[in-house]
Amino acid sequence: CGIVGITGTKQAVSVLINGLERLEYRGYDSAGIYVNDQTGQDYLVKRAGRIANLKSALTPEIQGSAGIGHTRWATHGVPNEINAHPQYSADERFYLVHNGVIENFEQLKQEYLADVKFQSQTDTEVVVQLIDRFVVDYEMDTKSAFLKVLHLISDDSSYAFVLMDRQTPDTLYVSKNKSPLLVGVGDGFNMVASDAVAMLKETHNFMEIEDREVVIVKPSGVVIRDFDGNEMKRDTFRVDMDASAADKGTYPFYMLKEVDEQPVVMRKLVQEYLDTDGSPVIEPELLSRMQQADKLYVVGAGTSYHAGLIGARLFERLTGIPTQVFISSEFAYEQPIMSKKPFFIFLTQSGETADSREVLVNVKKQGWPTLTITNVPKSTLSREATFTLLLHAGPEIAVASTKAYTAQVALQAILAKGLGMAMRKQLAIDFDVKQQLGLVAVGMQAIVDSKDQLESVAARYLAQPRNAFYIGRGIDWSVALESALKLKEISYVQAEGFASGELKHGTIALIEDKTPVIGIITQDRTAGLTRSNLQEVVSRGASVLTIASKHLAQPDDTIVLPDVDELLTPLLSVVPAQLLAYYTSLGKGLDVDKPRNLAKSVTVQ
Ligand code: G6P
Repeated sequence: CGIVGITGTKQAVSVLINGLERLEYRGYDSAGIYVNDQTGQDYLVKRAGRIANLKSALTPEIQGSAGIGHTRWATHGVPNEINAHPQYSADERFYLVHNGVIENFEQLKQEYLADVKFQSQTDTEVVVQLIDRFVVDYEMDTKSAFLKVLHLISDDSSYAFVLMDRQTPDTLYVSKNKSPLLVGVGDGFNMVASDAVAMLKETHNFMEIEDREVVIVKPSGVVIRDFDGNEMKRDTFRVDMDASAADKGTYPFYMLKEVDEQPVVMRKLVQEYLDTDGSPVIEPELLSRMQQADKLYVVGAGTSYHAGLIGARLFERLTGIPTQVFISSEFAYEQPIMSKKPFFIFLTQSGETADSREVLVNVKKQGWPTLTITNVPKSTLSREATFTLLLHAGPEIAVASTKAYTAQVALQAILAKGLGMAMRKQLAIDFDVKQQLGLVAVGMQAIVDSKDQLESVAARYLAQPRNAFYIGRGIDWSVALESALKLKEISYVQAEGFASGELKHGTIALIEDKTPVIGIITQDRTAGLTRSNLQEVVSRGASVLTIASKHLAQPDDTIVLPDVDELLTPLLSVVPAQLLAYYTSLGKGLDVDKPRNLAKSVTVQ
């Protein structure tokens, strides 16, 4: 979910709507705003569906100088208008937006609010009704009631809260635990939001909020205290990003823009991390901590997990350190038997994924060193890890991750090279990552320039079938998993990635006449085998497509990729798969950037 709040001299409604539109990547099931004009007039507007629906429900008299807004990714309660936020108390005095999950909300309800009739099915309504109860029935002031409720919420809960009280209409009461939230500092106004992008139009100055603090935001200033009431001094920091970096310009969808940006991102990584002779420029302390490790643990979710699968191969090959990849939500609750000196690498585009953060918190408690590779400076996982490397990919807005994936793969290659060199590994010394990433950038450009071809392949093979398969071996299999994820998440074709040798042990039963099977063929050692596996499905009626490296290509291959080092072929083979997914989704008339049921940044477990 995404949250934004403002108080001060600005027209709150337009600031909130603009901010919510920037946060829509965090969820878009329903949305709402509450504004107060400081003269006793206030307005609550909520709608199911996209922010566009909320916008069309607004009328000119709805104005205010303070307010809160929310765009939702449903957890408790279906995404309808009643369950949309802000949630409010029965006496319509308190209004609350919330991102996260209150784990003990049922107990709180039974213990304190057994007599209250609830309108919604949300855990959030319990919190706002409880605050009201302490203020009205126990005569507490709002701040104390808020703090009291924060104390009653169980530690395993996650929240970012912004509360408003009709009786102190210029004040935002704010707190967070595990969910992201930061303050935007302005001249005559102050803001809070889940992500700096939502505030960039108004300010470039921000202030972090730590977990379990209470922040009082007024037009004139911001006061931060810990739960014991001690005032915390906090510096502001500047984010120089231009708000337009997050615009889609002339592109119909962000995804296409982000696919097209990949060659630029490769060059940017070369510029940021490699010196003129091609040696990685990486903090020596990070390399030395990694060198001491007897095993690398790579952790991520979704596309980031898939990038980790490639990274593990790179680390093992170039450094000789055993490396294993984990899905964060699995590792969090079933930690394997650990090696003696583990080093953890967290891959996360957003730096906010709750599943990954849960692992980071556990791992830190056990005293192990951690690195976060993320696209978002100062994101939660970046702040909490021992080390951070930034992806420099620019804002990624489409839910389906593209440029962040290729940036994660490329940056892991640079890191593996740097580490391998520090360990004097000959393979790493010989691996010319700078020259190779240059070739990759040129190759990516050639692929994105052949969009027409990919559009017609998508229309011909992927528009009709209900399922499709990507297959490959080794590193190609890892790309097959990511390629299938792209296709399924935005086009709703049930797509799976398989190890091509494994097909005959079960999955081949699913092959019917014209089932699309896409083979990825970039590795010398396994090319012949994958081609045989493709023959096996051809014999059973499948429509076979191939994505093959030039030196392994055959005349009827569908897509031929320029040659690069075998370790870096994922950077090229994934691009046609991204575009096939894009055009399949587009051809079906779907909202490519905002597929159903998904959100880009998932801050609940
Ligand atoms: C969500 C998104 C995925 C993303 C995953 C991990 O599920 O829909 O596209 O890969 O989160 O996100 P992260 O920000 O940690 O890379």
